[in-house]
Amino acid sequence: MAAKNILHMLTPHKHVSPFDVNMALDAGYDSVTPYEAVTMEEVADLVQDVIFSRPPDRGVNSAVFFGGDDAVLALDMIEAAKNALVPPFGCNIMADPAGSFTTAAAMVACVERTLKNEKGKALSDVTIAVFGATGVVGYCSAVIAALEGARVKVVGYNGIERVRQRADEMKERFGVEVEPVDGSSDDKNTAIVREVEVIFAAAKAGVQVLSLKQLQAAEKLLVAADVNAVPPLGLEGVDVMADGEPIEGTSAFGIGALAVGPIKSNTEQGLLKRMIEAEEPQFLDFRDAFQLARTLVS
Ligand SMILES: NC(=O)c1ccc[n+]([C@@H]2O[C@H](COP(=O)([O-])OP(=O)(O)OC[C@H]3O[C@@H](n4cnc5c(N)ncnc54)[C@H](OP(=O)(O)O)[C@@H]3O)[C@@H](O)[C@H]2O)c1
Repeated sequence: MAAKNILHMLTPHKHVSPFDVNMALDAGYDSVTPYEAVTMEEVADLVQDVIFSRPPDRGVNSAVFFGGDDAVLALDMIEAAKNALVPPFGCNIMADPAGSFTTAAAMVACVERTLKNEKGKALSDVTIAVFGATGVVGYCSAVIAALEGARVKVVGYNGIERVRQRADEMKERFGVEVEPVDGSSDDKNTAIVREVEVIFAAAKAGVQVLSLKQLQAAEKLLVAADVNAVPPLGLEGVDVMADGEPIEGTSAFGIGALAVGPIKSNTEQGLLKRMIEAEEPQFLDFRDAFQLARTLVS
């Protein structure tokens, strides 16, 4: 009899995400079980309970998925889970806290495609300002872009200190150098965007981070992407549906949240399917999400 594909969905929060549950069942999992308020200390025991319940050759049919809303905690939980495996007993391990790994991957992939198609440039040719960089989506998109060779500025809307801490953490964990910058006033933000070719807007839902006037003052701007679908949008003048549309009064192109959304969903579902179809256990984080997303955007 074919082994059932079983997903154990762990979150440090009170609830797992219904979005992720639907995604997993639609991807083909036979069963999805939520575990809530999970702490770091509990991860190893839970993972060992998963792997020892099936013979080693069925480990590939079990998976552990980490949710939550903290990119660093989710990455730490992936590491704790990997360290708890006892070969030949294993299982698949994936994280996508608050959908952020796949959202960041999709946004960066959409920007990469538009940069190439419209401007003949690569991520490694540009400087990027990331707004919302202390959040999960902003954090991951900054790291993905920096790993691809982009020069990245992480913008602190309430001063430089918290983005400096994030930049230090990115350097320690991923070996990437990103520049913390102070975006605590409209004038400072205007000065920041004058110096960049790309903008990632990943701030809190319903917060406008830049006006159309500020985008029009950004003379070097090539592409600007926004993942906030809740009015007011993050970038005035970039429609929620824009998928590489010109931004009025600029020579730049805009990407809106509902253009990123389908790539995000297909990326998350694609990674879940990869775990179901794999012959060896998979360990998947936002770097795998980006590699998949960039194949989905063309
Ligand atoms: N399109 C999609 O498929 C999709 C999927 C998931 C999420 N999203 C969207 O992506 C965005 C980011 O999500 P997230 O989960 O990363 O959110 P998050 O963790 O809440 O982070 C939001 C970021 O915005 C910052 N922020 C808060 N108030 C701000 C203000 N007044 N001005 C500028 N920045 C401000 C936050 O700073 P603090 O550190 O001070 O809180 C944080 O850096 C949201 O708009 C969300 O709706 C889109």
